[in-house]
Amino acid sequence: MSTQDTTNGPADLSQSRFLKACRGEQTDATPVWLMRQAGRYMAEYRELRKKNTILELIKDPALATEVTMQPIQAFDLDAAIIFADILPPLEGMGLQLEFQKGEGPVIHNPVRTEADVRALRQPDPEEFLHFTLDAIRLTRKELDPRGVPLIGFSGAPFTLASYAVEGGSSRNRVLVKSMMMNRPDLWDIMMTKLAKLAGDYLVAQAKAGAQVLQLFDSWVGELSPYEYENFVLPYSKLALDIAATAGVPVIHFGTNTSGMLPLIQKAGGDVIGVDWRINLDEAWEILGHSTPVQGNLDPVTLFAEWPALEKRAKDVLDRAAGRPGHIFNLGHGIVIETPVDNVRKLVDYIHEYSRTLRG
Ligand code: CP3
Repeated sequence: MSTQDTTNGPADLSQSRFLKACRGEQTDATPVWLMRQAGRYMAEYRELRKKNTILELIKDPALATEVTMQPIQAFDLDAAIIFADILPPLEGMGLQLEFQKGEGPVIHNPVRTEADVRALRQPDPEEFLHFTLDAIRLTRKELDPRGVPLIGFSGAPFTLASYAVEGGSSRNRVLVKSMMMNRPDLWDIMMTKLAKLAGDYLVAQAKAGAQVLQLFDSWVGELSPYEYENFVLPYSKLALDIAATAGVPVIHFGTNTSGMLPLIQKAGGDVIGVDWRINLDEAWEILGHSTPVQGNLDPVTLFAEWPALEKRAKDVLDRAAGRPGHIFNLGHGIVIETPVDNVRKLVDYIHEYSRTLRG
C-alpha cells in the first residue's frame, strides 16, 4: 500500500496516501477510511462483544488492538483508528460512565451545579488513559508492516460537555445550553478543563505513536454560529492549539456545520471534516482549496444497492475533481446494520475510480 520500513523501530509512513493527503499533497489514488469502521456491523466485532462490554474492549490493550485491526484485515483501508471512545476521558474527571444496552452512554453523576463544575478533576491522560496509549503502541506493531497509519482521537469540548451535563444522549440539549447561556463563569471553568483534557490526550496519543489526530465535535451543529463563535470556538481552539504541538496532522470534524465552516476552520485543524448536508465542492470552495478536506458520503448511502451507491460515491469524487488533499470518508459514523459487502465494494471503488481523475 505504501512505503514501509523493515528495520527495527517504528515505520516511517510519511509517504503513505493518507499522510500525504493530510498535508495537501497529491496521491496516486484518494485515501479512504470510514468513521466508526470498527464496530457492530462486523460479525467479528459482535463475536468479541458477546464476551466483553465495550468498556472492557477499550480498557484491554490487546482486545482494543484486535478490534482496531478487524476492518484493516477485512478492507483495503488507508488508515486505522484506535478502538476507543470519546467518553472514557470523562471518568478521569470524576464522572461515572456506563454504556447501557439500548440506551447508549449514561453519566450517573452529571455536571449540573457550581459545586459539580468545581469538583471536576483535571486528569493526566498518561495516567488515566494509559490503556488506550498502550493499545496505540501495540497496534502500531501490527500496522507498521502493512504500511497503514494510525489515527488517535478525542471528543471536542462541546461534545464532551454535552454528555457531561446532559448525562447521556439528548434531543434538545436544554441543560448544556442553559449552563452556557446562564452561567458563562461556570461554562468557562468546565470548558477550559475539557479543552485541556482533549488537547493533552491528543498529544499523549501522538507520543504513543498515533500518526494523525482527529477531534470529534459530533454535536456542534446543534449550535447557532453565534453560540459557536462566542461559547465554543475559543475552547476548541485551545484543544487544537495544544494538539498542534504534537507535530502531526490534526483533523477537525463536526456534523451539521454547513452554516459555520469558516468558524470551524478558524478554530483550527489541518484537515476539515465535511458532512453530506453540503456538496463537497461547495464546502471546499468555502474553506479554500489549500485546506485538505475529509468526507462526505451520507453513511445511509451504504444501504443502497450497488448502482445507486456507486453513483453517489462517484459524485463525491467528481466534486473533489482529483485535487490534492481529499480524504474520502463518510460524513458521520457507519451505521450498525450496514451491509459489509457494500463497505468492501465502496473502498475498492474509491481507489479505482479516483485513479482515473488524476492528471
Ligand atoms: O471509529 C472507530 O472505529 C473507532 C471507535 C469509536 C467508537 N466511538 C467506538 C464505539 C469512535 C471514534 C467513537 C467516537 C464517539 N463515541 C463519538 C464521536 C463520533 C460520532 O460517531 O459522533 C461519540 C459521540 C461517541 C459516544 C458514543 N459511544 C455513543 C453515543 C455510543 C452509543 C451509541 C451507539 O452507536 O451504540 C457509543 C458506543 C460505541 N462507541 C460503540 C462503538 C463501536 C458501540 C457500542 C457497542 O459495542 O455496543
